[in-house]
Amino acid sequence: MSSNHDSFIPAMSEIAREAGALLMDYFHQQLKIEYKGDADLVTAADRAAEALIRDRIRQKWPTHDVLGEEQGLSDQGSDYRWYVDPLDGTTNFAHGYPVFCVSMGLEYQAPEHRSSGQRTSRIAAVIYDPTRNELFTAERGRGALLNGETIHVSKTATLKESLLATGFPSHKRHKNPNIYFYHQITLHTHGVRRAGSAALDLCNVASGRFDGFWEFNLNPWDTAAGVLIVEEAGGKVTRFDGSPFELNSRETVASNGLLHQELLAEFREIFAGRGVEPLPDPREYKR
Ligand code: IPD
Ligand code: CA
Ligand code: CA
Repeated sequence: MSSNHDSFIPAMSEIAREAGALLMDYFHQQLKIEYKGDADLVTAADRAAEALIRDRIRQKWPTHDVLGEEQGLSDQGSDYRWYVDPLDGTTNFAHGYPVFCVSMGLEYQAPEHRSSGQRTSRIAAVIYDPTRNELFTAERGRGALLNGETIHVSKTATLKESLLATGFPSHKRHKNPNIYFYHQITLHTHGVRRAGSAALDLCNVASGRFDGFWEFNLNPWDTAAGVLIVEEAGGKVTRFDGSPFELNSRETVASNGLLHQELLAEFREIFAGRGVEPLPDPREYKR
């Protein structure tokens, strides 16, 4: 992060904690009736958390732009843009499975770079898991922290020793090829977890719990904060072909850096259909 910026982290942390507390209120109160036909309750938690976050951003930084999952983009032509996922892990939340978080990322584009279209810079990130009271933070150039302690990606050097994570989108799942990638990569690693919160998956790469993560079709609010946290923890994030990650690229491959090339090579082979183990025939289990 450039020294021209004051740290946003203390204020962002306060907002994320406040939104996390609000989510926990909904989580506890409505757990029994959740998802038995009334999906509105989930929507109410999503919406209430985003409204709170937007309100706090507006109070502190009234000129900043905000892109939030629930309310879309409010664009005032600011040099700063917030990416807000007020509840990442909605399906978990709705079923009472305590894996979800609040995600807030901040991007900056210096005015002199606007006309050249030069890439913007992700400058600050906060992801708060209210179920474990874990606050992940990062500022560009200043490292990544978990509850104030520096975190690093893992040192696992090979895929065969790795634990990875992935996710499947909730929309258009029938068009998502990820089950093939899930299957192949499961065969070549210690396993692939699918916990249901992309932002937390990225934090778990940053803190060395996972060695890597990939997902197709994530949105900018899912990744803006987590990608900076991974990078500041010493990890690497790219597209599937190894080119630089972009918020709108809808391709996310994150790792500790050490096994990144091996992971990308795995994707290359699967995309090309080379050496792909067929999915087992379920009828085999009867024998
Ligand atoms: C979802 C979660 C999930 C991922 C989906 C996302 P949401 O976000 O991050 O892990 O697999 O692709 O849409 O809908 O819970 O905010
Ligand atoms: Ca999300
Ligand atoms: Ca969400």
